[in-house]
Amino acid sequence: MPHYHSLGKIPPKRHVQFRKEDGSLYAEQVVSTEGFSDLYSITYHEHPPTLVKGIDEPFDVKPEVAYEKNMQNRSFQGFQVKPEADYIKSRVPVLVNNDLYIHLAAPTRSMNDYFFKNSSATEMLFVHEGEGSLKTMYGFLEFKAGDHLVIPMGTTYQLEFKDENNRLFIVESFSHLRFPKRYVNHNGQLLEHAPFYERDLRKPERLETFNEKGDFKIMIKKNDSIYPYHYATHPFDVIGWDGYLYPYAFSIHDFEPITGRVHQPPPVHQTFEARNYVMCAFVPRLYDYHPEAIPAPYNHANVESDEVLYYVDGDFMSRKHVEKGQITLHPIGIPHGPHPGTIEKSIGAKETRELAVMVDTFKPLMITKQALELEDKDYYKSWIENL
Ligand SMILES: [Fe+2]
Repeated sequence: MPHYHSLGKIPPKRHVQFRKEDGSLYAEQVVSTEGFSDLYSITYHEHPPTLVKGIDEPFDVKPEVAYEKNMQNRSFQGFQVKPEADYIKSRVPVLVNNDLYIHLAAPTRSMNDYFFKNSSATEMLFVHEGEGSLKTMYGFLEFKAGDHLVIPMGTTYQLEFKDENNRLFIVESFSHLRFPKRYVNHNGQLLEHAPFYERDLRKPERLETFNEKGDFKIMIKKNDSIYPYHYATHPFDVIGWDGYLYPYAFSIHDFEPITGRVHQPPPVHQTFEARNYVMCAFVPRLYDYHPEAIPAPYNHANVESDEVLYYVDGDFMSRKHVEKGQITLHPIGIPHGPHPGTIEKSIGAKETRELAVMVDTFKPLMITKQALELEDKDYYKSWIENL
């Protein structure tokens, strides 16, 4: 987890009087997780964060499932998702279960007329293409291609994009994202053998206080509905805050790969863990250096995981005909492995330029109607072509 951080003005003690120049009190808010037993932050607002003016009709955004049960290797062309101006509409759910939803999005416009809050899920936005600023009450966080943006559950945010060319791979996680336990010491610091370190985590750095009154719409997602809330004050009216709960960025380009004499198992690529799934990053790296090594992976049956790979860039060593933005799904129940010819081709190669994000879920994923429109229907037969 990211460590203690503080921006702006805060009083010397928690829960004591903290007054403005005119003598009135700032409004203190404790934003806490897991029943006040886990990470939290304390924020100080110009106005209480409770000034609701009205609530519009909620609307449903529940993913429409086409296949509740899947027993087939599948592939989807993610870049076929159509660009869409509105951020909420741009999020296309493709693979879902009770632990996470995976969305693809190509938003073309910054969020100027509303804010968004996911009160049921921590969101991980992997920025495949695009650049901009993630705005929250904790400050502004600049992002660019390759960033994992981790936005804790319950954080109100706006995305400001530099231009209209944006591609996001989104994991909507119904539990908090953490770093793998084996990489963290008892005090929460990343250990020496972890492939990344606290210095690689970028925190909000620029706190701007919006002391504004008016009508501020926050689209609040709870479960599978969106509730348009109207507040009388700007949600980013924070004068200062401190704590451990805030959004952060971690670039895939800052992940230091773990390599070996022979093929290293997938967990060396791990970035995050959460309830019933893990995430990994496959990054450019030197290949295995045993003289007889086979750099391509072995055929594998990861018998309790649906495996989702999202291809970002470079040649993916074990696959043929891979496009940027492609997703493959290799489900529980059948083994999979390198495509024909890729094992021999990998022998003697010195390095790979592959860049990909992987999500391994411990419960099966369901396939949405929108995903079917992106599907390469013959993928499941793609191993047999050389027989
Ligand atoms: Fe695999």
